[in-house]
Amino acid sequence: MKFFADTAEIAEIKELADTGLLDGVTTNPSLIHKSGRNFVEVVKEICGVVKGPVSAEVVALDYDGMMREAGVLRKIADNIAIKVPLTPAGLKACKALSGDGSMVNVTLCFSPAQALLAAKAGATFISPFIGRLDDISADGMQLIGDIRLIYDNYDFRTEILAASIRHPMHVVEAAKIGADVMTAPPKIIWELFKHPLTDTGIASFLKDWQSTGQKIV
Ligand code: G3P
Repeated sequence: MKFFADTAEIAEIKELADTGLLDGVTTNPSLIHKSGRNFVEVVKEICGVVKGPVSAEVVALDYDGMMREAGVLRKIADNIAIKVPLTPAGLKACKALSGDGSMVNVTLCFSPAQALLAAKAGATFISPFIGRLDDISADGMQLIGDIRLIYDNYDFRTEILAASIRHPMHVVEAAKIGADVMTAPPKIIWELFKHPLTDTGIASFLKDWQSTGQKIV
């Protein structure tokens, strides 16, 4: 499973990239707003830190506007994935952009039918929003399973990018189902490392080691 960080905070991205476990970054207009940075500038900086796909979202709602904005975004770096919404115009733009060699992340997917359309439009990534479905008492993880089944039935190459991740178990469950990628806020990625038995185990090993009086030299 590839790990993407869902943030536009450079310091957080650098810290995660340092682990060697970060495969990409996803941004959206809300995350750009939260960063307080200029969109193009911050995305360019992120592309300099992470070699893998960096999603940058168009904000136009019509096909021509999306294509115009995508033209600006794709010039930022070779690892840009243009993010388009799951609408008829978005999927038309997806088809044109992917046909032209760009990576495309189709976002705001909430149903298996939408995911099927995105794959047909040649999306590189489909982003089903797990947390936002759970928030309205629907089953976000069921959507991941349904998309996995449909994509495997037809050998679609579109990668399932589990998005709107709210806690570590979302990551684990999505991995068990076979989501290709997950994108999560850095805080949640760091939580994946944690287990109280790891901490107590380290403490007791260290205590015993100090009692030996030895050093590794
Ligand atoms: O970036 C897309 C998605 O991960 C947003 O998540 O937490 O705003 O529902 P959230």
